[in-house]
Amino acid sequence: MPNVIELINVNKTYGTRVKSQILHDLNLEIEEHSINSVVGASGSGKTTLLNIMGTLDKPTSGEVLIDGSNIKKMSQRSLAKLRNQAIGLIFQFHFLLEEFDVLDNVLIPSKIQGNNRPEGKEKANRLLDMLGLYKYRHYNVLDLSGGQQQRVAIARSLINNPKIILADEPTGNLDFNSSEDVYNIFKQVNKEYGVAFVIVTHDKHLVGRIIEIQDGKILKL
Ligand SMILES: Nc1ncnc2c1ncn2[C@@H]1O[C@H](COP(=O)(O)OP(=O)(O)OP(=O)(O)O)[C@@H](O)[C@H]1O
Ligand SMILES: [Mg+2]
Repeated sequence: MPNVIELINVNKTYGTRVKSQILHDLNLEIEEHSINSVVGASGSGKTTLLNIMGTLDKPTSGEVLIDGSNIKKMSQRSLAKLRNQAIGLIFQFHFLLEEFDVLDNVLIPSKIQGNNRPEGKEKANRLLDMLGLYKYRHYNVLDLSGGQQQRVAIARSLINNPKIILADEPTGNLDFNSSEDVYNIFKQVNKEYGVAFVIVTHDKHLVGRIIEIQDGKILKL
């Protein structure tokens, strides 16, 4: 299987005068269609790692390849395009826009891409249907439960047909049943659309390959 993400000797250091090294010489390959769970203590570097994989942050040294392209060699413009099209992001706090309804929130990444065609709306409705939210599509997002809001964020992350979804504690604010729902949706999306997942989690419920981080190093693969 080809890799959708490849990290080669990635180091991350914060601070200028007092430097603290967060990631130490990480090498990691994320295969197409795979599901991966990232675990590790608070402060071990999970979010830092995920942000680097999502091109939201840059390593201090080392290489990041997304879908075979080295992001160092890309212009700001093509990087922004890659981020919008190849990568779907899901956070613990979903960052839905409160002034829009459910359907419009799902459509945001597709509008950013400059796509206003009706296919976008059809896909959004299909995703909402799959996630059990079709009847809520014209609700304001504030009128939904936490689990429902997280499912809207999942639909939004899928609208541009990404190859990779990066999720940082996506069930961190959900109860057990809603968390189970989210994991089942991830598995279904992985199976149906072939999307690769990297999920940072503190949950007992782990899916796929386990990547354990300790003090900015990968323990076992
Ligand atoms: N912008 C930043 N500037 C300086 N230090 C930072 C910055 N972001 C993170 N750190 C430090 O890097 C370390 C790793 O943080 P990170 O957020 O990656 O941990 P984490 O594994 O995601 O933890 P948690 O499970 O609590 O979310 C921490 O010590 C944190 O203080
Ligand atoms: Mg974190």
